[in-house]
Parts: sequence; structure tokens; C-alpha cells
Amino acid sequence: MDKLRIIGGTPLTGEISISGAKNAALPILCASLLTADTITLTNVPKLNDIATTFKLLNQLGVKAVRNSDDSVCMTADQVTTLEAPYELVKTMRASILVLGPLLARFGEARVSLPGGCAIGQRPVDQHIQGLAALGADIKIEHGFVVARATRLKGAVVRTDMVTVTGTENLMMAAVLAEGQTILENAAREPEVIDLAKLLIKMGAKIKGHGTDRIVIDGVESLHGATHRVIPDRIEAGSFLCAVGAAGGKIMLRDAAPETMGATISKLQEAGLHIAVGPDWIEASMSTRPKAVDMRTIEYPGFATDMQAQLMALNALADGTSVIVETIFENRYMHVQELRRLGAHIDIDGHTAIVRGVPKLSGATVMATDLRASASLVIAGLAAEGETLVERIYHLDRGYERMEHKLRQLGANIERTTH
Ligand code: UD1
Repeated sequence: MDKLRIIGGTPLTGEISISGAKNAALPILCASLLTADTITLTNVPKLNDIATTFKLLNQLGVKAVRNSDDSVCMTADQVTTLEAPYELVKTMRASILVLGPLLARFGEARVSLPGGCAIGQRPVDQHIQGLAALGADIKIEHGFVVARATRLKGAVVRTDMVTVTGTENLMMAAVLAEGQTILENAAREPEVIDLAKLLIKMGAKIKGHGTDRIVIDGVESLHGATHRVIPDRIEAGSFLCAVGAAGGKIMLRDAAPETMGATISKLQEAGLHIAVGPDWIEASMSTRPKAVDMRTIEYPGFATDMQAQLMALNALADGTSVIVETIFENRYMHVQELRRLGAHIDIDGHTAIVRGVPKLSGATVMATDLRASASLVIAGLAAEGETLVERIYHLDRGYERMEHKLRQLGANIERTTH
């Protein structure tokens, strides 16, 4: 199994490019199911979760081709099955995103229920209730969500909580429904906006994306379109935390600072000097970070997907910080691994108290989920001596060649296969 070997203590300097956003690309790839025409996408990152989505869509009969110019063409003109099997859904929960499009276009879908997930229970009840409100006959049978509808009918749908993939699934279902759908309490994440922009290019009638009330007037059919996926705000934020922890000066190209919500201001509070342009972010750090409190919340608040990485920075900070995780109930699995590196962190329910230490010391640690892996890499870059991060298949799900990019910034990091 692959590991990352890091010798900490080298400040980061140089320039890298930020890849396309995983969480925007996943629903966008699934949106190709909504039309028989070709959808051409650029800036699709090369990640394991994207490969899993290709596999799933291929299995449904979608032709997915990666061209040499790095664009991806998706054509769903011969969908052969309407079933997403357990083997694929269990490895990636976002597979549930085929449910809305399959049901809307073909009137039927069978999608395996995603299993439990390391960071929390993550049910899909809101996706199911929302589709039922749009008129679907929907039930759970033999571990599958089984949904049928001759044609979905527009309705007002108010989800009990803000759900990102829930909003995306319902938006993709509603674009082909008869009449108007209003999604209340909708997610406002940049990835939801990016999906809406693609759907509009395909002929959908959507207003209010980026607010908590999305209004969709259903159309009879959609057509092909070309779209560039937005830059990954979590990847960019992770590199900013890395320079915050290891020190140095870096330039992130092909980034989208306007999508980064509270991340940039939080990192400035921690002591980073950050300058931004339309598509770049320059960041430098020459002192020990300052401890910063944070509470994860829906966009544009501080992202739960950045919590673990900022905690690594707080572990080294001058002072004590209080972190509250409000989105997922079990998202502190990196804590015991950060402790192995010498961090002082106490957990009380949803709250973590981090007492910053002047130095971390390298050790062997185990990645437990995607963002936890990134936090261990960040801590390892700043720690004294050698850190071995095991089980980095989690990291490969969501970061494109992270160790290559870090090496480009001068870090002493390599992948080992034994
Ligand atoms: C998406 C992101 C993930 C991010 C999360 C929160 C993708 C592919 N993944 O995940 O990286 O961490 O948003 O920003 O975009 N919930 C229910 N029932 C539902 C749906 C959600 O109870 O039907 C709960 C979840 O358990 C969680 C909260 O709502 O506590 C928010 O989850 P949600 O926004 O749906 O997360 P995902 O869309 O799965």
C-alpha cells in the first residue's frame, strides 16, 4: 500500500497550479445522464473519485472519453441499465448523484444505498424525501433506493438541513420535471452554482443558484454543452495551510479566491500574508501561526472540508484554539494521529481544544479519510524529522498528485510503495 515519506522542516517556495474541483466535477459528470447529446468538460481533475464516477457512468452505458487536450466528452445516448451497483456506490457516496438524473430522464432508477461513512452517518433521506415530493414513487428494497415516475412534477421542496449533494440531486431531477420547482433551504456552495451554470448551458431554466432558494422551471429536454469546471477551493486552502505550517512563500495559479468563503480570512487571522487576483493567490508566512477559533458551517462559512487542515496549523500555533464541528458528527479522526506527532488536542463532543506546541516531531501516522490525510501531510511538512503517512489511498481520492505539487514547492516528500 502506498505511503508518503516526508522530511519536515523545509519552508515551501514556488508556484503550482490548482486543479479542477472534485466536488464540482462529480455532479457535473452525472449531469451528462440528462441528455443524449455530448457534454464536453475541461479542468476535470485526475482523481480516484473521478475514475470511480467514470466507471459508474460507463457501467450505465455512458461513453466517457478523456481527450489529449485534457477535455472529457460524455455521451449518454445509449444508457443500457438504470442500476448503480453496491460495489461502486460503497466506494464513493457521491454515486447517489446519478439518482436524480436517471429518474428525471428515464423515469426509473435503482441506486444502492451508500453504506456508513467514516466521518459520520451521512444518510440520504433528504434526497429521497425531495424526490418523493416531486412525485416519485420511491422505496428502499434489498439495499437499493428504487424510484419510479412517469414524469416528475414540480413542487416546493424544503430540506430539513442544508445538503450539498441533496440540492444537486434535486436540481438535476427538477430540470426535466413538469412545471416549477422551488428548492428552499438550498445549499449555496460554489459547486452547486457551477452545476447550475452547466445545466443552464444545457437548456435548463434555473434562477437563484447561490442563494438558499433555487427556482427551476422544468423543460422537456436538454442538449449538449461545453463547460470548464471551477478550481478546487479545498485543494487551494490545503496548500495555504501547508505554507502556514511550514513557512515560506507560494503562488497558486488557476485558483478561484472568490469561492473560498471564510478560509482566506481565517488564514490571515492565523498570520499568513495573502494577496489575491482574479485567478491567483499568493501567500507567505514567516512566523509561528497564531491560534484561531473556528466553527464549521455551510458556505460561505468555514468549510468542514478545511477543518482538519486548519487544525494541523493550530497544533503548531501560539495559543489555544477552540474548534467546533457542526456538520459531521465524527470528523475528528485525525486528532489521535496528530497527537502521535506531538499535538495537544482534547475532544469534548463536537468541540476540539487545541493547545499549540512550538514543534511537532515526525512519526508514522495513518490516514483515515480524505481531509484527515491532508492534515497529516501538512503537520508532517512542519514536523522535525521523518513522518510516514500510511493509507494514502484516501488522499488520492481527492488530491491530484499532491506530493508532486509539494515537491514543486521544495518539500522533501516522496511516495513509497512498501
Ligand atoms: C458534500 C461534499 C463534502 C462536504 C459536505 C459538507 C460532495 C461530493 N461532497 O457532501 O465534501 O464535506 O458536502 O460541505 O460535494 N444529511 C442528512 N440527510 C441527507 C443529506 C445530508 O442527514 O439526506 C446530513 C449529513 O449527514 C451531514 C449534513 O446533512 O450531517 C450535510 O451533509 P451534505 O451537505 O449532504 O454532505 P454531502 O453532500 O454528502
